[in-house]
Parts: sequence; C-alpha cells; structure tokens
Amino acid sequence: MFDVRACTDQDEYGRAIGAIGQYFNPPPSEDFLERFVEILPHERMHAAFEGDQIVGGAGAFPFELSVPGGSLPCAGITAVGVHPTHRRRGVLRSMMDTQLRDIHERGESIAALWASEETIYGRFGYGIASWAGDLNVPHEWDAFAEPVELGGAARFVTPEEAGELFPTIYEAVRRERPGMTSRSEAWWRNRQLRMPEEEASAPRRYVVLELDGEPVAYAIYRTHFSFGGGSATSRLVVREALGATPQATAAIWRFLLDVDWMATVELSLAPPDHPLLLLLASPRRAHYGFGDALWIRIVDLPAALSRRAYGEGGPLVLEVRDAICEWNDGRWRLEDGACDRTVEEPDLALDVSALGSAYLGAVSFAQLHEVLRVDERREGAVARADALFAWRPLPWCLEIF
Ligand SMILES: CC(C)(COP(=O)(O)OP(=O)(O)OC[C@H]1O[C@@H](n2cnc3c(N)ncnc32)[C@H](O)[C@@H]1OP(=O)(O)O)[C@@H](O)C(=O)NCCC(=O)NCCS
Repeated sequence: MFDVRACTDQDEYGRAIGAIGQYFNPPPSEDFLERFVEILPHERMHAAFEGDQIVGGAGAFPFELSVPGGSLPCAGITAVGVHPTHRRRGVLRSMMDTQLRDIHERGESIAALWASEETIYGRFGYGIASWAGDLNVPHEWDAFAEPVELGGAARFVTPEEAGELFPTIYEAVRRERPGMTSRSEAWWRNRQLRMPEEEASAPRRYVVLELDGEPVAYAIYRTHFSFGGGSATSRLVVREALGATPQATAAIWRFLLDVDWMATVELSLAPPDHPLLLLLASPRRAHYGFGDALWIRIVDLPAALSRRAYGEGGPLVLEVRDAICEWNDGRWRLEDGACDRTVEEPDLALDVSALGSAYLGAVSFAQLHEVLRVDERREGAVARADALFAWRPLPWCLEIF
C-alpha cells in the first residue's frame, strides 16, 4: 500500500506532476509548474509516496461544468501518472480512492476527465459521457449549403484584448451547452491566450467578430504554411471558434473557411451536432468520425441528480451499484428534479459508471440497455428514463485537460 496525500509545497507538486511527466517530452519545467499552480493548487494534486520518493500523481482542477440546464462544481481530473518502475502495483487505485473521497468532502458532485486509454477509468466509476471528432474541410468543398447573410466585421486582437472580449462569448455558449468547463482569468491566460514558445513558428491568431460594435463571435487559430506542386497547401488549424448566436457562428466559420492559401481548415473535438456539419454543403468531405470525449463520474449522486434539468416524466427509481463511493450505493427516487433515498422497488438497476454515461444526455438508457449496462426492472422504464435524461444540444468540451 502506498501513502497518498495532497502536495504541500512546490517541490512535492513538481515531483507529483513529474509522474505523468515520465510519459511526456520534455518533463515539466519550473516555468510550466509556476503557471500550472495558478489553475491547479497544491492541495488538489495528490501524490503517492513510497518512503520519501513520489511514484505517482493525480490532480483535480476545481472548476464548474455546464450540465443540462445548469452548471455545478466539478473536479477536472488531470495529470494522472505512475512511474514506469511502479506500474500495476495498485498506485493508481490508491490515488483514485483518496481523490474521490477528497472530491466528495469538498462538495463537488461530479468528476470529469479525458481518458488517455479507454480501458483505465470504468473500474473507478467513470463512464463515457460525450463524443467528439475531427473535421477537416478541404478548400474545394467549403461552400455552405444555404446562402447565409453575413453581417459584422472581423478584426485581429491582441491576447490581452481577447482576454477582455472572448470570455463573455464563451459564457454565452456555455449557458446553452453541457460539457463546458468554467474558465478563470488564469485559465484563459495560461491555456488560451499565451503564446507558447513551441508554437512560435505558427503563432496563435485571435479574431473577434463584431456586429453593430458588439463582439458576437471569436476564433483562435494557427496557420501552418506549406507549398507543394506550385500551389499553397497550407492548413488552418482552429483551436476554438464560437458564436453567441447562429448568425455569428456561421459568420465566424465563413471567415475561417475563406482565408486564402488554406488547402484545409481543421477543427478537433467537434461534437456530433457541431453546426459546421449542417452549414457545409458537403459535410462528408470533412471526413467526420467521432470517439469518446469527456467521461463523467457521479461523486455525490443526490446532489448531481438534483442539480440538472430534465425532460417530461414521472418518478423514476434507480438502483445504483457503487463499489468505491459507497455513499452512492443503493436505491434513489428521482421526482420533479429532486433525488432522494428510497426503499421502493427499482425501475432500473445500473452501475454508477452507466449513470455517469447518461448524465449529460449524450448516451441514452436505451443504448446502455442494449449493451447490458442497464437492467430494466419495470417494463417501459428505459424509455421513461430517456424521456427524462435526453438533452440537446449535445455536450461539448472544447479542450482536453
Ligand atoms: C495508467 C496508469 C496511471 C496506471 O497506473 P497503475 O498504478 O499501474 O495502475 P494500478 O496498478 O493501480 O491498476 C489498477 C487497475 O487498473 C488496471 N489498469 C491500469 N492501467 C491500465 C491500462 N492502461 N489499461 C487497462 N487497465 C489498466 C490494472 O490492471 C488494475 O486492474 P484491477 O484492479 O482489475 O487489478 C499508469 O500505467 C500510467 O502512468 N500510464 C501512463 C500515463 C497515463 O496513461 N495516465 C493516465 C492519464 S489519463
């Protein structure tokens, strides 16, 4: 058994993050750690000790995640790593156990992560809760299906001005979309608005689109110049492009698609209902294919279920198995958006990881039932659960953390 506890100073912090650093090149620099601690404080970085040596680390960003109809405190799991010298000896399990208890004590109802490998986190109660994929739009297929009347004017801004203008637009989108993380000023500065040295050859560009003087859309992108066979074969890689209204979204995409010399315009992590798919006349040319994106772990079940919105439907009784967060284990009655313990017979029985999958509305109970992750104890209960939990738009987490 390893001793797992939160880091108390920058030295421990650096060594704990150094565990995942074993798998990255180069290992985390002093500069990186000074920036990182602004968004992930010492007490949210757990370290696994063997004597004085730190052999593993697991972090949790304290942010809010938008969920259907709201936003709630969430632990954003990150920087999880175990030294290759200590793998498969239970270090990760000890860290996950301690971390989940800490999250619960802090009153964060859910945890979310991007999984480096899909086989790791199900056993700790996480379930795939959203989907995302890449869109690569070739220049010759970038026409829109319908003519869109584009108002407004685009202009480049400095990172400082972007820091003043972009967050309002981001928040407007976040109010409507589940799966989006809240961003502190330090998060914007460190992750979106910084010019990393390694990107110096193709710096980030910041564009705002204004309509009647009001900022309504923004884009952060990089261009990778190349020339082949006598023509430009450059790529425009979009880091983020968001509009506060449908017209603003269409306009910012038209701006990006119309940049000269670009053979392709590329976007990663797009959800299956990304507007660009239907804006384009030939979406199949963008070769969209999706995989798992955000995973959700329900940490405080009654709080998590009481703090999202639902569709129409009567009461539903769930029997939930949770081997790690034992406080979730048992029967729960969901009625009129409130969730309480019950002794009633269940409508559905499922593992907490399956409930995590259904939580943001992207994975249906019917899908989970079809792959034997949900047991229907009362006829029609799967359909009733879907009427309650289904949600549009689909969850969209714009960045891997
Ligand atoms: C993934 C990683 C953290 C696992 O750490 P570990 O200490 O070896 O894991 P544990 O010994 O605690 O294993 C716990 C369980 O998970 C399983 N497991 C661990 N890593 C796994 C993997 N990559 N794929 C499938 N199963 C895995 C173990 O077999 C064990 O299963 P069991 O409880 O049924 O016996 C470690 O291998 C690592 O640092 N990998 C590279 C970095 C990485 O991928 N980090 C995750 C970032 S999201």
